[in-house]
Amino acid sequence: MDPYKMIIACTNQKGGCAKTTTAVNLATALAEGNPKRGIEPAKVLLVDLDPQGSASTSFGIEKRDLERTVYDLLMNDLGEELPIIEDYLFGPEMISDAMQSVWKQANIGKDLKESQKKVLTVENLWLLPSNIQLSGAEIELATRIGRETRLKEGLASAIHEFDYIIIDTPPSLGLLTINALAAANWVLIPVQTEWYALEGMSQLMNSIKLIQRRINPHLKLFGIALTMYQNNTLSNTVSKEVRHHLQDQVFNTMIPRATSIAAAPMEGAPIVLLKKPTKKNKGSQAYWSLSKEVSDRVKQLRRKHGVNETSKLKLHRLNQIE
Ligand SMILES: Nc1ncnc2c1ncn2[C@@H]1O[C@H](COP(=O)(O)OP(=O)(O)OP(=O)(O)O)[C@@H](O)[C@H]1O
Ligand SMILES: [Mg+2]
Repeated sequence: MDPYKMIIACTNQKGGCAKTTTAVNLATALAEGNPKRGIEPAKVLLVDLDPQGSASTSFGIEKRDLERTVYDLLMNDLGEELPIIEDYLFGPEMISDAMQSVWKQANIGKDLKESQKKVLTVENLWLLPSNIQLSGAEIELATRIGRETRLKEGLASAIHEFDYIIIDTPPSLGLLTINALAAANWVLIPVQTEWYALEGMSQLMNSIKLIQRRINPHLKLFGIALTMYQNNTLSNTVSKEVRHHLQDQVFNTMIPRATSIAAAPMEGAPIVLLKKPTKKNKGSQAYWSLSKEVSDRVKQLRRKHGVNETSKLKLHRLNQIE
């Protein structure tokens, strides 16, 4: 195992269980870091592998205007690796510009104050965007050689450039999700705390096993995140049941159902940027707390392999200073 390889597929074939919200907030919080909470900033690539393109819109990115997307990378018959940053990726400046322009459109005539500009700025986050064009990929890939491992090939050179690569997947177990599971070494499963939460879980676990056997023996379960939790009997019963079945694979943090989380995409920025993680802002607080658990699990894993947990980003900075 390469202890620095952290490619996490955020997957569940069940629709609307907060895959995108979790992938977007996790990627942003890990990139931002929070020294007070013991999360050091990391260099993060978020891959939007859903034709809905919701991860891209979460930052206010205009999907129609995209010149190149993850679709082009998957369809590349030459098997080229991702040309880092240059052609395919939205870098921190472009993401920040997109978030700030959503604010400007909603506040016509007002000046974007320095403090708000800081809120709507990311430094260490890159995005491989997607749009509706990707919806053709499932069918188009079906007859192509290497159809299951195209994302893996495309991302090969990015592995050494990023501390985390987080992949948002569509709500199906089709070829796109298989590409994500073939490229990743970890799976994070968001589970909505509602009735039927575990429905489909055995199918998902079987798919993961199949991928492990046939395509990617390095794939492992990173954790289960309980989402849209409400303090009522139903939510409590479901989360107890999930914990009973999956035990310490379930993160302690439960993401509450919160209007602020649902409204964030409208403001064109993830909740972890928009709201400070305080008791008053439970949505932001929960995603920061989940990010801390993720970052701690990574540190633990690395220690187990006898490596220092210093992130590559920090190493880059140290190199620059020298
Ligand atoms: N904790 C939450 N509280 C309230 N609303 C939420 C929460 N998390 C997500 N939502 C909202 O629920 C909807 C589904 O969330 P999201 O898009 O993240 O799920 P998904 O699993 O990616 O969906 P899909 O399967 O369509 O890709 C969105 O409108 C989102 O804003
Ligand atoms: Mg989604």
